[in-house]
Amino acid sequence: MSQAAPARPGRASLVGAGPGDPELLTLKAARIIGEADVVLYDKLVSAGILALAKPGARLVDVGKRCGRHSMQQAAINRLILTHARAGRHVVRLKGGDPFVFGRGGEELETLRDAGVPVEVVPGITTALAVGAQLQVPLTHRGVSRSLHLLTAHNHADALPDHDWAALARGGTLAVYMGVRTLPLLAARLLAAGMDAATPAAAVQNATLPTEQRLFGTLATIAAQVTESGGDGPTMVLIGAVVGMAQRQALGDTPLHEAA
Ligand SMILES: C[S@@+](CC[C@H](N)C(=O)[O-])C[C@H]1O[C@@H](n2cnc3c(N)ncnc32)[C@H](O)[C@@H]1O
Repeated sequence: MSQAAPARPGRASLVGAGPGDPELLTLKAARIIGEADVVLYDKLVSAGILALAKPGARLVDVGKRCGRHSMQQAAINRLILTHARAGRHVVRLKGGDPFVFGRGGEELETLRDAGVPVEVVPGITTALAVGAQLQVPLTHRGVSRSLHLLTAHNHADALPDHDWAALARGGTLAVYMGVRTLPLLAARLLAAGMDAATPAAAVQNATLPTEQRLFGTLATIAAQVTESGGDGPTMVLIGAVVGMAQRQALGDTPLHEAA
């Protein structure tokens, strides 16, 4: 016997939750989270944001965090489809922005192929949030003319094959998923000619009450991150602009170092 089609067609929203601080959510994201029947969320989405869901909404932790996927991407895709086909409004809530190292593109393709209506709501990606937290302009007249968002981690858990010479030439580097491969990344940039004294910073749990910051140089930052430990998501910024935050740190801005 064939199943009756739901009275109301389902749909999906791929929503960026920003870096963690609920106040960094867009108004549109907040509204859509409040309307959803089902919210499938990542590990990096904070409780304050999930609290916006309506009473009775199903909240499902799909547990994704860099290198630690409690649910495989294919299973997540199937789950979104199952709920949407049952006539529900599904929000796939992702840390930062869905289209910056968020695998939002794969979910979008799955939904489009299945004919499920889908919308995308951008979020503040970590690089922008970290720039704001450190008061580091990511581009700055006469100092940095480009911003590179790169991952230091590929599907084989290794350093991806970037154009190191191009990255070493200048501009600001915002490194996602970089903790494990940071020593290798720094070595490749040094070998490609980047100055060892280039300012660098690592920020863990950016915008959350547990945020921690470390300042160093391209030559030192990997060892500093290893020594400081910590398990939270970490972004590494490398480039001359980071020196602007360091100057502030020596003044009256209460920047603190990771324990
Ligand atoms: C799978 S990527 C997701 C990126 C996300 N879509 C975005 O736009 O920011 C996970 C990486 O983002 C960075 N990240 C996410 N949230 C962070 C936070 N609150 N503080 C520092 N880094 C964060 C870390 O580099 C982490 O390894």
